Amino acid sequence: MRKSIIVTGASSGIGKATVIKLVESGYQVFGLARRYDSLTSIYSDLASSIENKENQYVAMQCDITKPERFDDIIKDISSKAQGNTIYGLVNNAGYVEPGAIEDITIQDIRKQFEINFFGLVELTKKVLPFMMLDNSQGRIVNISSVSGLISLPLIGAYSASKYALEALTDALRMELWNTNIKVITINPGFVNTNINTVSKPKLDNLIEKRSSRFSKTYRKYMYNVPKGLPSDSVADIILNAISSPKPKTRYIIGSTALKLGVRMKKFVPDRIFFSQVAKRIH
Ligand SMILES: NC(=O)c1ccc[n+]([C@@H]2O[C@H](COP(=O)([O-])OP(=O)(O)OC[C@H]3O[C@@H](n4cnc5c(N)ncnc54)[C@H](OP(=O)(O)O)[C@@H]3O)[C@@H](O)[C@H]2O)c1
Repeated sequence: MRKSIIVTGASSGIGKATVIKLVESGYQVFGLARRYDSLTSIYSDLASSIENKENQYVAMQCDITKPERFDDIIKDISSKAQGNTIYGLVNNAGYVEPGAIEDITIQDIRKQFEINFFGLVELTKKVLPFMMLDNSQGRIVNISSVSGLISLPLIGAYSASKYALEALTDALRMELWNTNIKVITINPGFVNTNINTVSKPKLDNLIEKRSSRFSKTYRKYMYNVPKGLPSDSVADIILNAISSPKPKTRYIIGSTALKLGVRMKKFVPDRIFFSQVAKRIH
């Protein structure tokens, strides 16, 4: 029997690559996102050797900021899930609200949290009882970011949402310690996805409509973000976290220099770290 896994933010980038990897590795996957056309286009990306594709991958429209629909969606999933239980939840939906704190509105910051944090928490709370049925094995994989470990300027709202996710994930991991459900954090660095395309009109707006003192800096750093790793390489690690009997609690994904930088940051005095980063934006 195939184990059933829910992946949010499945319509592009890391989520889409994860859906394909999981289905092709023998899992039944429920892919959630707002863009249904993009979700269904995944059928044509699945290996032709997969039989009965509509059963192995189920596309489901879901806006993570509309929790009033979660009960219906989860009921639908559990009725279609093999064995009517849910083995895994990959909380991946997210976006970057770009801009210095002085440039973005409180509504922008709330929206960042609605999608990257509150939506994820509400969905997890709804899925958890199904995962806990008969105390079977389970995996909750939360896609954080290196920005959940180091806060950087001009993406403060995004970092704050990922720091909140880190705190919640750590608490949940300890609360589920005596169950068979393992909670895993993924911290990617730069990954080549649509994330910057989604942010670009927001940046254009900050530069054109508001006379920000950071306009030059936005152009310098945020229009030229390094392309980063392919989504596939993150999906490989998510697959490993899902299928390994003893997954790590955290996977930091990126170059050796990035991993080392993250690990070493706690040894750098605050004043040195903050002044060096601040120098680059002023
Ligand atoms: N790319 C990077 O460099 C990077 C680095 C570290 C962490 N991450 C994290 O990786 C995760 C995936 O991002 P990505 O890079 O793959 O970006 P992406 O290609 O833009 O994908 C984002 C996904 O989130 C979904 N989403 C956004 N808002 C949603 C909403 N309201 N309801 C439901 N789904 C929503 C989008 O689907 P719809 O638009 O169809 O709803 C899309 O499938 C995010 O949590 C991000 O913070 C990315």
